Order: sequence, then structure tokens, then C-alpha cells
Amino acid sequence: MTGKLEGRVAIVTGAASGFGRAISIAYAKEGAKVVVADLHEKPLTGGFEAHAELTTVKEIEAAGGSALFVRCDVTVEQDVIDLVAKAVAHFGRLDIMFNNAGIYRAGKLAHEFTDEDLEACWKVNVKGTWYGCQEAVRTFLRQGGGGNIINLVSTAGLQGHPKQAVYNISKGAAANLTRCFAIEYGHEKIRVNGICPTYAKTAMTRALFDDKDFDGAFVESIPLKRWGETDDVAKLAVFLASDDSSYMHGVLVPIDGGETLCRYSV
Ligand SMILES: NC(=O)c1ccc[n+]([C@@H]2O[C@H](COP(=O)([O-])OP(=O)(O)OC[C@H]3O[C@@H](n4cnc5c(N)ncnc54)[C@H](O)[C@@H]3O)[C@@H](O)[C@H]2O)c1
Repeated sequence: MTGKLEGRVAIVTGAASGFGRAISIAYAKEGAKVVVADLHEKPLTGGFEAHAELTTVKEIEAAGGSALFVRCDVTVEQDVIDLVAKAVAHFGRLDIMFNNAGIYRAGKLAHEFTDEDLEACWKVNVKGTWYGCQEAVRTFLRQGGGGNIINLVSTAGLQGHPKQAVYNISKGAAANLTRCFAIEYGHEKIRVNGICPTYAKTAMTRALFDDKDFDGAFVESIPLKRWGETDDVAKLAVFLASDDSSYMHGVLVPIDGGETLCRYSV
């Protein structure tokens, strides 16, 4: 590793499992001190983690890195405020806020989804990201010198997909939220960008991965003919957090094997 994030302090939400975990580990390998925020410390069952017996913090520490777990429900504003305060109290400052926590609801036509489905996606994927952006900006403004916000959106934030309207609505809002923060805080040297993966192998997509019909149709629809991996996204997350991307701002980067180039149906 090249120490691209040496001395920086990062918060990653939803970091016990999946993308958030891979991003946390990649940030620590690049020298960042990482605050691992989640509802619980252990990874979700059904994921593809290489060392699922270890918490994210334990895996980082085993590799010589520095990390702290903070329990946080991103749908609760005070939890997010406390999370940032704990990060600053423990590591002295905040440089990178990675709003990754999210949930998925799918498998129904738009008129079949319940109000609870819509509410659940909205609370985690929109309000959770909103609170994270707001508190990070307040902290960066107080510190001076700028900062870096990255939101885990999805290709679902860039287009429609069949049978997941409530998820796509929430990710569309997260995409526009990213643009709005980028417009308002660029002059404060606060960069704000979004990452838009297609389906990748995590606990969230385990049932789809195990469904041979879905798996076959999905891989066939992707120009690069494979599922996304958490490491694909972790590498992009390092790039966007580092000075290598210092003139990238307000961008929603697809990392999707070419999914958004073409149409597919399920
Ligand atoms: N996996 C995919 O194919 C895919 C594709 C595009 C975008 N995404 C997005 O990537 C992000 C991470 O997804 P993943 O696949 O790693 O999911 P995952 O379900 O494997 O992990 C999500 C993590 O977020 C945590 N979490 C959920 N609700 C939370 C809350 N209210 N507060 C704090 N933590 C919470 C969970 O405990 C879990 O550890 C999400 O925003 C998701 O929408 C996933």
C-alpha cells in the first residue's frame, strides 16, 4: 500500500459487512484511522467476507491498522451527531465521511409495495445519508480546511429498474442529495461524490446470487459478464477519498461492468 490516506480520519457507516467493511479495510491499509459505524459489530450472515469470524475492527487491527467501532443507527439523527463527536474525540478530527449504510427492498410491482417498504428505504438510504452529510459538513466547517464526503448510491440512483421502485426512489434522492451538497460546499474545499455500483456480492444480494435464474440473466445482461465485488468498490472509494481525485466533485461514478450502457429485463 502507498499510504494515500496516511494520517486521515474516516467514518464509514454500515461498516460491519459488505461494501462498508471492504472500504474500511482498504482505508486502513492506506493509512487512515477508521471509525466503523453500524447497528452491530459482527457482519451480517450470508455475506461473502473472507474472515467473517472477525469484526471489521479486529480485521483492521490484525493487519496493523487503527479502528474504532461505534454503534450507530443512521436513521436516528442524534446517533449520527454522536458518531461524529466520538470520532473527533477519539482520533482528533474528521477528514472523510463515507455514507454507506443502506437497505434494499425488491420483488414487487410499484403498486404492491407498502408504505412501510417506502418508509424503510427512505429512512436509511435518504435520511441516513442526509444526516451524515449534514454533520460532516458542520464538522468540516468548524475544523476549517475542507473535507471529503462520499455517498454509496447505486445504479438504482441513475435509472429505473423493474420491481424495486421504493429502492430506486430512495437512491435517486441520494444521488440528487450528493449533487446538492457538492454545489453548496465546494467553495469550502469540501468535496462530495457518489459511487454507483450494480449488483455486487454481499449479504444484501445473497438471495439473488443464489437464484440461478436471476444470476444467469444478470450476468448475461452485463457487458463485463460478472457480478461486482466489494473490492471493486473499495478501490474506487480509496481513489475518491485521496488527493488523486482532487478535481472530481459532484460526480456519481458508475462501477457497474457496463450495466448503465444498455437495457435489461428480469
Ligand atoms: N450489494 C449491492 O449489490 C449494492 C449495489 C448498489 C448499491 N448498494 C448499496 O451499498 C450499500 C451497502 O450495501 P451492502 O451490499 O454492503 O449491504 P449489506 O446488507 O451487506 O451491509 C449493509 C450494512 O449496513 C448496516 N446497516 C443497515 N441499516 C443500518 C442503519 N440504520 N444504521 C447503521 N447501519 C446500518 C447493516 O447492519 C450492514 O452491516 C447500501 O447503501 C446499498 O444500498 C449495494
